[in-house]
Amino acid sequence: MDNKLESVLDIMNENQLQMIIISDGYNMHSLSGYKGHTGCILYFKDKQYILTDSRYTEQATIEAPQLMCIDIGSDGYSKTIAGLMKPYVEQMNASHNQETSAFLIGFENEHISYNQFMSFHDTFREAFGDCIQFHELKNQINKLRVIKSEDELVRLSKAEQIGDLAFSHILQFIKPGKTEMEVALELEYFMKSHGASGLSFDTIVASGPNSSLPHAVPTERILKDGDFVTMDFGCVYKGYCSDMTRTIYIGKEPSKKQQEIYEIVLQAQLAALAEIKPGMKCSDVDAVARNFIKNAGYGSYFGHGLGHGVGLYIHEEPRFSPKCEELLTPGVVITVEPGIYLPGEFGVRIEDMIQITEDGYRNLTSSPKKLICVS
Ligand code: GLY
Ligand code: MN
Repeated sequence: MDNKLESVLDIMNENQLQMIIISDGYNMHSLSGYKGHTGCILYFKDKQYILTDSRYTEQATIEAPQLMCIDIGSDGYSKTIAGLMKPYVEQMNASHNQETSAFLIGFENEHISYNQFMSFHDTFREAFGDCIQFHELKNQINKLRVIKSEDELVRLSKAEQIGDLAFSHILQFIKPGKTEMEVALELEYFMKSHGASGLSFDTIVASGPNSSLPHAVPTERILKDGDFVTMDFGCVYKGYCSDMTRTIYIGKEPSKKQQEIYEIVLQAQLAALAEIKPGMKCSDVDAVARNFIKNAGYGSYFGHGLGHGVGLYIHEEPRFSPKCEELLTPGVVITVEPGIYLPGEFGVRIEDMIQITEDGYRNLTSSPKKLICVS
């Protein structure tokens, strides 16, 4: 049996589930190989199905040959699933005679819409009555993606290398007079023409006062002397995402305040990196950078988490956040991205993507972090 199927069956057994519905596109991809993002995988203990519509049935059959592919046709998902559940519910009822027992269904509560859930709930209850119960899987399935295989690590590393190349290219391209949108487009064109199939997320290029918005959208603003420019970008290589951020200066001499803030962010990142190793609690890593920035007097200007796992999707488990109790393990890929954002003035963020190893970490990002001035 393949390891992934075994892991899902373990989750079924641990939670006494009779069925699991997986509908998150990235989880479907990771568990089965099917990349269509439309449909769901249905797990029973002895049999597994992939349900989709006619646009994707051929693709699903090719990419996930181990699953029986079902075209939902005009019945839709709820009715098709109810048809497949029927023998299992009947078998459970027959074996329990008059005793009441539950047919417990695991579903991805963090992914599924309220409407979709209610459709499952109402259709299954109408067909089989009150024995139908639901179990929120929370993060249980997402967590199966936390530790990357060798093949996944190669793809993630290659994706980040394309990002590094794009950064060194953009240093030649960027100059006063260019707009944020032109810089973003150039980064995207470069990454796509160097092996990327797409972007991990909408590219951020934020200059001058716009850089105090952590997730700014590129505008027509023209870069000029005195600006900080934060570029946060990533690409998808063979299905896997990259993510990096660099802040550079336009002009010859940043102000004292710009130099001070840049240095605090950089030192906060280096301090966190210095602590990272397997066994370290994610919230403790976050605290290293957060306390550094707080002690420098800018604690209230660093609002987001220090980092996030990266894989098929740009934001995965675990998180470097004050709440994440997970321990780092070899094979985790995660970002380290402290920032300080001064509203109306400017912002700085520096982000690397790292892989946890047996004795520490490997930095997948190799772009320089010393403040670069371009004029
Ligand atoms: N680099 C974009 C993000 O982490 O949200
Ligand atoms: Mn990030």
